[in-house]
Amino acid sequence: MKKCFFAVSLVAWILCLPLEAQNGNKGSRLNSFTPGTIWKDNNGVHINAHGGGILYQEETYYWFGEHKTEGRGGNVAQVGVHCYSSTDLYNWTDRGIALSVSDDPASDIEKGCILERPKVIYNKKTGKYVMWFHLEPKGKGYGGALVGIAQADEVTGPYTFIRSTRATPKSWPVNVLDLHKRPLPEKYMGERANLEPTEHPDSVNTLGRDFVKGQHSRDMTLFVDDDGKAYHLCSSESNSVIHIAELTDDYLDFTGKWVRAFVGRRMEAPAIFKKDGLYYFMGSGCTGWRPNEARSAVAPSIWGPWTELGNPCVDADKETTYHSQSTYFLPVVGKEDAFIYMGDRWTPENAIDGRYIWLPVEFKDGKFILHWYDEWDLSVFDKKE
Ligand code: DGJ
Repeated sequence: MKKCFFAVSLVAWILCLPLEAQNGNKGSRLNSFTPGTIWKDNNGVHINAHGGGILYQEETYYWFGEHKTEGRGGNVAQVGVHCYSSTDLYNWTDRGIALSVSDDPASDIEKGCILERPKVIYNKKTGKYVMWFHLEPKGKGYGGALVGIAQADEVTGPYTFIRSTRATPKSWPVNVLDLHKRPLPEKYMGERANLEPTEHPDSVNTLGRDFVKGQHSRDMTLFVDDDGKAYHLCSSESNSVIHIAELTDDYLDFTGKWVRAFVGRRMEAPAIFKKDGLYYFMGSGCTGWRPNEARSAVAPSIWGPWTELGNPCVDADKETTYHSQSTYFLPVVGKEDAFIYMGDRWTPENAIDGRYIWLPVEFKDGKFILHWYDEWDLSVFDKKE
C-alpha cells in the first residue's frame, strides 16, 4: 500500500514538472542568457533554430527556426523548421521538426531548397497555427524570392505546406506613384533588368515588372497587431525596399493592401515590435552572411511614415550589431515594456554552429537601444529608471 502511494505521488510530481525538467535537461538548469555561447537544449545539444521567431501559447514559448546542418552546405534546408519550447526562456526542450522538407522533387520545399526565417503566428478565428518563411526552390539560388506558407492544428506541428508565392501579386502599394504604373520598355522586363539604369527615379524597375506574378520576398517576418490583424514585412525589389503587407483574416494570403517603406535603403532582416502605440523596426544592410551595422526606425502606424533612428547598438562592436543580424523581437509575457532582441551570429562555413545573440531592448530619448551583455537575465526588465 505504502509502495503504491509512493508511486502515485512520484507520477503526480513528475506530471507537475515543466516539460523541459521532465525530459531531464542534460546540463544544469540555466537562469541567464549568455549571447554568443553554445545554447544547449534538454538533450545537451546546441539549439538548432536559426533565423527564428517565437510564439507564446498557454504559458509556453515556442521557438521556431531554420534547422541547419554541418559545413557550408548546411545553409540549405536538409531537414526543415525545428521547434523548441520553454516556460522560462532560458531552458529549451526539443519538440522536433515542425515542418519537414520533402523528398519529392516536385515539391516546392524539396530537400535542398533554401528555407529561411520561418515565423509562426496563431489565428484565433480559425484555431490554426500558420507558418510563413522565405523560400527559394532547390538549385535556383536566391532568384525565386518567394514566401512559403504552411499550417498546423497543433503548435508544434506537423505543419502542412500549402503553397509558395511571390508577395502581393496584382496589387499596387498604397503609396504607388503614377510612374510605377507606366509600362516599362521591354528591355527592363527581364529578371536582371533591375541592374539597368532606372526608368523610375525612386526604384529599380522591378515594381511594374513584377506586378502580375508578385513582388520579391526575401528576408521576411510576420507581425500580429493588437487588433488581430497580421502583416508580412519583407525585403523586396531586389532588396532595395521593404514591403509591408496586410494578411487576410485567416493569415493565409495577402489582402492586397501594402506599402513600400525605406525606399532605396537596401535593408534585410526585418524585425518589428510595438510599444505605447508606436511601431519600432530594425533591419540590417545587405552583406550576405557577414554582419553589418543595424538600422532602426519608428512609425505611428504600421503604414508609416517611418522615421529612421540609426544604429540601435551603442557598445563596442556596434558596427557589426555585435556580430549579429536581427530576426525577431520577443515581447516578454508578464513584464511591462519588455522586449528581447533576437539576432543570429551566422557561421556560414559551418552553418550548424550559428549562435544566438539575445539582448534586452532598452529605451532612451525616444529610441530603442541595445547594450551588449556577456550575461544577463530577465530581472533587467524589473529595474525601472
Ligand atoms: C542574409 C540574410 O539575412 C539571411 O537570411 C540569408 O539570406 C543570407 N543573407 C544569405 O546570404
